Amino acid sequence: MTGDRKDDHVRLAHAQHTTGTEPPPGGPPTPNQFDEVRFVHHALAGTDREKISLATRFAGVEWPVPLYINAMTGGSPRTGEINRDLAVAARETGLPIATGSMSPYLKDPGTASTFTPVRREHPDGFVLANLNAEATPEQARRAVGLLDANALQIHINTVQETVMPEGDRSFAHWATGIERIAAAVDVPVVVKEVGFGLSGRTVRELASLGVRAADVAGSGGTDFARIENGRRNRPDYAYLEGWGLSTPAALLDARDCGLPLLASGGVRNPLDITRALALGARAVGASGPFLTTLLDGGVDALVRHITTWLDHLTSLMTLLGAHSPDALADCDVLLTGSLRAFSLDRDLV
Ligand code: FNR
Repeated sequence: MTGDRKDDHVRLAHAQHTTGTEPPPGGPPTPNQFDEVRFVHHALAGTDREKISLATRFAGVEWPVPLYINAMTGGSPRTGEINRDLAVAARETGLPIATGSMSPYLKDPGTASTFTPVRREHPDGFVLANLNAEATPEQARRAVGLLDANALQIHINTVQETVMPEGDRSFAHWATGIERIAAAVDVPVVVKEVGFGLSGRTVRELASLGVRAADVAGSGGTDFARIENGRRNRPDYAYLEGWGLSTPAALLDARDCGLPLLASGGVRNPLDITRALALGARAVGASGPFLTTLLDGGVDALVRHITTWLDHLTSLMTLLGAHSPDALADCDVLLTGSLRAFSLDRDLV
Protein backbone atom coordinates (compact mmCIF):
# COMPACT_ATOMS: atom_id res chain seq x y z
CA MET A 1 0.00 0.00 0.00
CA THR A 2 2.75 2.43 0.97
CA GLY A 3 4.58 1.58 -2.26
CA ASP A 4 1.43 2.41 -4.27
CA ARG A 5 1.16 5.73 -2.46
CA LYS A 6 4.78 6.56 -3.27
CA ASP A 7 4.18 5.73 -6.94
CA ASP A 8 1.05 7.94 -6.88
CA HIS A 9 3.05 10.84 -5.45
CA VAL A 10 5.59 10.61 -8.26
CA ARG A 11 2.89 10.35 -10.92
CA LEU A 12 0.83 13.26 -9.59
CA ALA A 13 3.85 15.50 -8.89
CA HIS A 14 5.04 14.88 -12.42
CA ALA A 15 1.58 15.74 -13.77
CA GLN A 16 1.53 18.92 -11.67
CA HIS A 17 4.77 20.08 -13.22
CA THR A 18 3.78 19.21 -16.78
CA THR A 19 0.09 20.04 -17.23
CA GLY A 20 -0.29 23.74 -17.26
CA THR A 21 1.74 24.55 -14.17
CA GLU A 22 5.15 24.42 -15.80
CA PRO A 23 6.14 26.57 -18.76
CA PRO A 24 7.34 25.17 -22.07
CA PRO A 25 11.15 24.90 -22.15
CA GLY A 26 12.58 28.38 -22.53
CA GLY A 27 9.22 30.03 -21.86
CA PRO A 28 8.41 32.39 -19.02
CA PRO A 29 8.05 30.69 -15.64
CA THR A 30 4.65 29.95 -14.10
CA PRO A 31 3.97 32.89 -11.78
CA ASN A 32 4.65 32.54 -8.06
CA GLN A 33 5.72 34.87 -5.26
CA PHE A 34 9.39 34.73 -6.24
CA ASP A 35 8.30 37.14 -9.01
CA GLU A 36 7.77 39.75 -6.28
CA VAL A 37 11.47 39.73 -5.34
CA ARG A 38 13.37 42.03 -7.69
CA PHE A 39 17.04 43.00 -7.68
CA VAL A 40 17.80 46.69 -8.07
CA HIS A 41 20.01 46.77 -11.14
CA HIS A 42 23.36 48.46 -10.57
CA ALA A 43 25.02 48.57 -13.97
CA LEU A 44 28.58 48.77 -12.60
CA ALA A 45 28.18 46.21 -9.79
CA GLY A 46 29.55 43.31 -11.83
CA THR A 47 32.67 41.39 -10.85
CA ASP A 48 34.90 38.78 -12.57
CA ARG A 49 33.44 35.32 -13.06
CA GLU A 50 36.64 33.59 -11.94
CA LYS A 51 36.31 35.26 -8.52
CA ILE A 52 32.96 33.56 -7.80
CA SER A 53 32.80 30.70 -5.31
CA LEU A 54 29.57 28.75 -5.00
CA ALA A 55 30.64 27.11 -1.72
CA THR A 56 28.32 27.53 1.24
CA ARG A 57 28.30 26.54 4.92
CA PHE A 58 25.77 26.22 7.73
CA ALA A 59 25.46 24.18 10.93
CA GLY A 60 29.03 22.92 10.62
CA VAL A 61 28.31 21.62 7.12
CA GLU A 62 30.24 22.69 4.02
CA TRP A 63 28.77 22.21 0.56
CA PRO A 64 30.57 22.96 -2.72
CA VAL A 65 27.37 24.40 -4.19
CA PRO A 66 24.30 26.08 -2.68
CA LEU A 67 21.89 23.73 -4.48
CA TYR A 68 20.56 20.29 -3.51
CA ILE A 69 18.13 17.63 -4.65
CA ASN A 70 15.41 17.68 -2.03
CA ALA A 71 13.48 14.79 -0.48
CA MET A 72 11.21 12.81 -2.72
CA THR A 73 10.90 9.11 -2.75
CA GLY A 74 11.63 5.45 -2.01
CA GLY A 75 9.57 2.46 -0.87
CA SER A 76 8.57 0.81 -4.17
CA PRO A 77 10.64 -0.79 -6.95
CA ARG A 78 9.96 2.12 -9.31
CA THR A 79 10.88 4.78 -6.74
CA GLY A 80 14.06 2.84 -5.97
CA GLU A 81 15.07 3.32 -9.61
CA ILE A 82 14.25 7.01 -9.35
CA ASN A 83 16.42 7.31 -6.22
CA ARG A 84 19.26 5.60 -8.09
CA ASP A 85 18.96 8.00 -11.05
CA LEU A 86 18.70 11.10 -8.84
CA ALA A 87 21.82 9.99 -6.98
CA VAL A 88 23.75 9.48 -10.23
CA ALA A 89 22.84 13.03 -11.28
CA ALA A 90 23.84 14.32 -7.83
CA ARG A 91 27.19 12.57 -8.08
CA GLU A 92 27.87 13.90 -11.60
CA THR A 93 27.14 17.47 -10.52
CA GLY A 94 28.43 17.39 -6.92
CA LEU A 95 25.03 18.12 -5.40
CA PRO A 96 23.90 17.02 -1.95
CA ILE A 97 20.80 14.81 -2.07
CA ALA A 98 17.99 13.87 0.32
CA THR A 99 16.01 10.64 0.09
CA GLY A 100 12.27 10.58 0.45
CA SER A 101 10.73 9.61 3.76
CA MET A 102 12.24 6.38 5.05
CA SER A 103 9.05 5.40 6.93
CA PRO A 104 8.52 2.53 4.45
CA TYR A 105 11.91 1.12 5.47
CA LEU A 106 11.03 1.38 9.18
CA LYS A 107 7.78 -0.52 8.55
CA ASP A 108 9.33 -3.05 6.15
CA PRO A 109 13.11 -3.48 6.15
CA GLY A 110 12.66 -5.30 2.81
CA THR A 111 12.34 -1.87 1.16
CA ALA A 112 15.90 -0.89 2.19
CA SER A 113 17.10 -1.56 -1.35
CA THR A 114 14.90 1.30 -2.64
CA PHE A 115 16.86 3.80 -0.49
CA THR A 116 20.41 2.43 -0.44
CA PRO A 117 21.12 3.32 -4.10
CA VAL A 118 21.33 6.94 -2.95
CA ARG A 119 24.50 6.17 -0.99
CA ARG A 120 25.79 3.49 -3.38
CA GLU A 121 25.68 5.84 -6.39
CA HIS A 122 26.96 8.86 -4.48
CA PRO A 123 29.56 7.27 -2.17
CA ASP A 124 31.42 10.48 -1.33
CA GLY A 125 28.42 12.80 -1.53
CA PHE A 126 26.43 14.58 1.13
CA VAL A 127 23.34 12.45 1.78
CA LEU A 128 20.38 13.44 3.96
CA ALA A 129 18.07 10.77 5.35
CA ASN A 130 14.41 11.76 5.80
CA LEU A 131 11.81 10.82 8.42
CA ASN A 132 8.70 12.21 10.06
CA ALA A 133 8.43 13.36 13.67
CA GLU A 134 6.74 10.07 14.68
CA ALA A 135 10.03 8.16 14.43
CA THR A 136 11.62 6.96 17.65
CA PRO A 137 15.24 7.86 18.41
CA GLU A 138 16.23 4.27 17.70
CA GLN A 139 14.47 4.34 14.31
CA ALA A 140 16.14 7.63 13.48
CA ARG A 141 19.56 6.12 14.21
CA ARG A 142 18.68 3.14 12.00
CA ALA A 143 17.64 5.35 9.08
CA VAL A 144 20.82 7.43 9.34
CA GLY A 145 22.88 4.26 9.63
CA LEU A 146 21.36 2.59 6.56
CA LEU A 147 22.58 5.42 4.34
CA ASP A 148 25.60 6.47 6.35
CA ALA A 149 23.79 9.80 6.11
CA ASN A 150 25.57 13.09 6.75
CA ALA A 151 22.41 14.77 8.08
CA LEU A 152 18.81 13.90 8.92
CA GLN A 153 15.79 15.76 7.61
CA ILE A 154 12.59 15.57 9.63
CA HIS A 155 9.54 16.64 7.65
CA ILE A 156 6.49 18.24 9.21
CA ASN A 157 3.43 17.90 7.02
CA THR A 158 0.24 18.59 8.96
CA VAL A 159 -1.63 19.80 5.88
CA GLN A 160 -0.78 16.70 3.85
CA GLU A 161 -1.77 14.38 6.73
CA THR A 162 -5.07 16.23 7.11
CA VAL A 163 -5.97 15.78 3.46
CA MET A 164 -5.12 12.05 3.57
CA PRO A 165 -8.07 10.02 4.95
CA GLU A 166 -5.53 7.58 6.42
CA GLY A 167 -3.28 10.43 7.66
CA ASP A 168 -2.25 11.31 11.20
CA ARG A 169 -4.63 13.41 13.27
CA SER A 170 -2.49 13.93 16.41
CA PHE A 171 0.23 16.49 16.00
CA ALA A 172 0.75 17.87 19.50
CA HIS A 173 3.62 15.50 20.33
CA TRP A 174 5.63 16.28 17.19
CA ALA A 175 7.79 18.96 18.84
CA THR A 176 8.80 16.54 21.60
CA GLY A 177 9.46 13.86 18.97
CA ILE A 178 11.76 16.22 17.06
CA GLU A 179 13.62 17.14 20.24
CA ARG A 180 14.18 13.47 21.14
CA ILE A 181 15.43 12.60 17.67
CA ALA A 182 17.76 15.61 17.55
CA ALA A 183 19.29 14.53 20.87
CA ALA A 184 19.71 10.93 19.72
CA VAL A 185 21.45 11.16 16.35
CA ASP A 186 25.04 12.22 15.87
CA VAL A 187 24.41 14.12 12.62
CA PRO A 188 22.81 17.57 12.24
CA VAL A 189 19.00 17.56 12.09
CA VAL A 190 17.29 19.76 9.52
CA VAL A 191 13.55 20.22 9.87
CA LYS A 192 11.57 20.90 6.71
CA GLU A 193 8.01 21.42 5.58
CA VAL A 194 6.81 19.71 2.41
CA GLY A 195 5.59 22.76 0.50
CA PHE A 196 3.49 24.77 2.98
CA GLY A 197 6.30 26.80 4.55
CA LEU A 198 7.84 27.30 8.00
CA SER A 199 6.97 30.57 9.73
CA GLY A 200 9.31 32.57 11.95
CA ARG A 201 7.39 31.38 15.00
CA THR A 202 7.92 27.76 13.99
CA VAL A 203 11.62 28.28 13.34
CA ARG A 204 12.08 29.93 16.73
CA GLU A 205 10.46 26.90 18.35
CA LEU A 206 12.62 24.51 16.32
CA ALA A 207 15.73 26.38 17.46
CA SER A 208 14.83 25.49 21.05
CA LEU A 209 14.50 21.79 20.19
CA GLY A 210 18.11 21.12 19.22
CA VAL A 211 17.52 21.36 15.48
CA ARG A 212 20.51 22.74 13.51
CA ALA A 213 18.82 24.19 10.40
CA ALA A 214 15.36 24.73 8.90
CA ASP A 215 14.32 24.25 5.28
CA VAL A 216 11.33 26.56 4.88
CA ALA A 217 9.95 24.41 1.99
CA GLY A 218 7.22 26.86 1.07
CA SER A 219 4.38 26.97 -1.43
CA GLY A 220 4.63 28.04 -5.05
CA GLY A 221 5.78 24.71 -6.50
CA THR A 222 4.66 21.16 -5.77
CA ASP A 223 1.37 21.29 -3.85
CA PHE A 224 0.82 18.23 -1.67
CA ALA A 225 -2.79 19.13 -0.96
CA ARG A 226 -3.36 18.86 -4.70
CA ILE A 227 -1.41 15.61 -4.89
CA GLU A 228 -3.41 13.98 -2.09
CA ASN A 229 -6.70 15.29 -3.51
CA GLY A 230 -5.64 13.85 -6.88
CA ARG A 231 -5.36 10.39 -5.35
CA ARG A 232 -9.13 10.12 -4.85
CA ASN A 233 -12.19 10.57 -6.99
CA ARG A 234 -14.04 12.98 -4.73
CA PRO A 235 -11.51 15.11 -2.86
CA ASP A 236 -12.83 16.46 0.42
CA TYR A 237 -10.22 19.14 0.84
CA ALA A 238 -9.99 20.84 -2.56
CA TYR A 239 -10.06 24.21 -0.80
CA LEU A 240 -6.71 23.51 0.90
CA GLU A 241 -4.85 23.67 -2.41
CA GLY A 242 -2.61 26.72 -2.39
CA TRP A 243 -2.48 26.79 1.44
CA GLY A 244 0.65 28.00 3.16
CA LEU A 245 3.47 30.50 3.14
CA SER A 246 5.34 30.94 -0.10
CA THR A 247 9.06 30.26 0.02
CA PRO A 248 10.07 33.96 -0.17
CA ALA A 249 7.45 34.89 2.45
CA ALA A 250 8.68 32.12 4.77
CA LEU A 251 12.30 33.22 4.29
CA LEU A 252 11.38 36.79 5.23
CA ASP A 253 9.31 35.67 8.21
CA ALA A 254 11.92 33.22 9.54
CA ARG A 255 15.01 35.39 9.10
CA ASP A 256 16.90 36.01 12.34
CA CYS A 257 14.82 33.43 14.22
CA GLY A 258 17.76 31.47 15.53
CA LEU A 259 18.51 28.89 12.83
CA PRO A 260 20.31 28.89 9.47
CA LEU A 261 17.71 28.65 6.73
CA LEU A 262 17.55 26.52 3.63
CA ALA A 263 14.98 27.30 0.95
CA SER A 264 12.89 25.07 -1.25
CA GLY A 265 9.46 25.04 -2.83
CA GLY A 266 8.64 26.66 -6.15
CA VAL A 267 12.22 27.25 -7.27
CA ARG A 268 11.80 27.47 -11.05
CA ASN A 269 15.10 28.70 -12.41
CA PRO A 270 18.53 30.12 -11.47
CA LEU A 271 17.03 33.55 -10.76
CA ASP A 272 14.81 32.00 -8.05
CA ILE A 273 17.90 30.36 -6.53
CA THR A 274 19.60 33.77 -6.51
CA ARG A 275 16.53 35.43 -4.99
CA ALA A 276 16.30 32.83 -2.20
CA LEU A 277 19.99 33.26 -1.39
CA ALA A 278 19.54 37.05 -1.35
CA LEU A 279 16.70 36.59 1.18
CA GLY A 280 19.13 34.78 3.46
CA ALA A 281 18.99 31.10 2.52
CA ARG A 282 22.31 29.25 2.79
CA ALA A 283 21.30 26.77 0.09
CA VAL A 284 18.35 26.09 -2.16
CA GLY A 285 16.60 22.80 -2.91
CA ALA A 286 14.32 21.60 -5.68
CA SER A 287 12.23 18.46 -6.02
CA GLY A 288 9.41 18.58 -8.60
CA PRO A 289 11.45 20.31 -11.34
CA PHE A 290 14.31 17.77 -11.05
CA LEU A 291 11.90 14.83 -10.94
CA THR A 292 10.13 16.08 -14.04
CA THR A 293 13.35 16.47 -16.01
CA LEU A 294 14.45 12.99 -14.95
CA LEU A 295 11.17 11.33 -15.92
CA ASP A 296 10.93 13.20 -19.22
CA GLY A 297 14.55 13.06 -20.34
CA GLY A 298 16.53 10.63 -18.19
CA VAL A 299 19.69 11.09 -16.14
CA ASP A 300 21.62 12.92 -18.86
CA ALA A 301 18.88 15.54 -19.12
CA LEU A 302 18.89 16.00 -15.35
CA VAL A 303 22.68 16.42 -15.32
CA ARG A 304 22.35 19.07 -18.06
CA HIS A 305 19.53 20.77 -16.13
CA ILE A 306 21.59 21.01 -12.93
CA THR A 307 24.78 22.01 -14.76
CA THR A 308 22.92 24.82 -16.54
CA TRP A 309 21.41 26.05 -13.26
CA LEU A 310 24.86 26.19 -11.61
CA ASP A 311 26.37 27.89 -14.66
CA HIS A 312 23.59 30.52 -14.73
CA LEU A 313 23.75 31.02 -10.96
CA THR A 314 27.45 31.84 -11.40
CA SER A 315 26.56 34.31 -14.19
CA LEU A 316 23.92 36.03 -12.04
CA MET A 317 26.30 36.32 -9.09
CA THR A 318 28.91 37.80 -11.46
CA LEU A 319 26.56 40.50 -12.73
CA LEU A 320 25.34 41.25 -9.20
CA GLY A 321 28.92 41.44 -7.90
CA ALA A 322 28.39 38.75 -5.22
CA HIS A 323 31.51 36.64 -4.77
CA SER A 324 29.80 34.02 -2.62
CA PRO A 325 26.22 32.89 -1.92
CA ASP A 326 26.12 34.72 1.41
CA ALA A 327 27.31 37.94 -0.26
CA LEU A 328 24.01 37.93 -2.19
CA ALA A 329 22.34 38.98 1.07
CA ASP A 330 24.03 42.39 0.61
CA CYS A 331 22.34 43.01 -2.76
CA ASP A 332 19.64 45.64 -3.07
CA VAL A 333 16.34 43.82 -3.28
CA LEU A 334 12.87 45.26 -3.82
CA LEU A 335 9.76 43.48 -2.60
CA THR A 336 6.61 44.17 -4.59
CA GLY A 337 2.92 43.28 -4.63
CA SER A 338 1.50 40.84 -2.10
CA LEU A 339 4.94 39.92 -0.77
CA ARG A 340 5.57 43.55 0.12
CA ALA A 341 2.15 43.76 1.78
CA PHE A 342 2.93 40.58 3.77
CA SER A 343 6.28 42.00 4.91
CA LEU A 344 4.71 45.29 5.98
CA ASP A 345 1.90 43.49 7.80
CA ARG A 346 4.38 41.31 9.64
CA ASP A 347 6.71 44.23 10.35
CA LEU A 348 9.54 42.55 8.44
CA VAL A 349 10.79 45.55 6.41
C1 FNR B 1 8.17 15.27 -2.02
N1 FNR B 1 8.48 15.93 -0.84
C2 FNR B 1 8.83 15.19 0.28
N2 FNR B 1 9.37 15.82 1.37
C3 FNR B 1 9.78 15.10 2.44
O1 FNR B 1 10.31 15.68 3.38
N3 FNR B 1 9.64 13.73 2.45
C4 FNR B 1 9.11 13.05 1.40
O2 FNR B 1 9.01 11.83 1.44
C5 FNR B 1 8.68 13.79 0.27
N4 FNR B 1 8.12 13.17 -0.81
C6 FNR B 1 7.95 13.88 -1.99
C7 FNR B 1 7.61 13.19 -3.16
C8 FNR B 1 7.53 13.87 -4.37
C9 FNR B 1 7.22 13.12 -5.61
C10 FNR B 1 7.79 15.28 -4.41
C11 FNR B 1 7.73 16.04 -5.71
C12 FNR B 1 8.08 15.95 -3.26
C13 FNR B 1 8.45 17.42 -0.75
C14 FNR B 1 9.68 18.08 -1.28
O3 FNR B 1 10.84 17.71 -0.55
C15 FNR B 1 9.55 19.61 -1.31
O4 FNR B 1 9.44 20.11 0.01
C16 FNR B 1 8.33 20.07 -2.11
O5 FNR B 1 8.14 19.24 -3.22
C17 FNR B 1 8.46 21.51 -2.62
O6 FNR B 1 9.54 21.63 -3.52
P1 FNR B 1 9.36 21.72 -5.12
O7 FNR B 1 8.85 20.41 -5.59
O8 FNR B 1 8.39 22.84 -5.39
O9 FNR B 1 10.74 21.99 -5.64
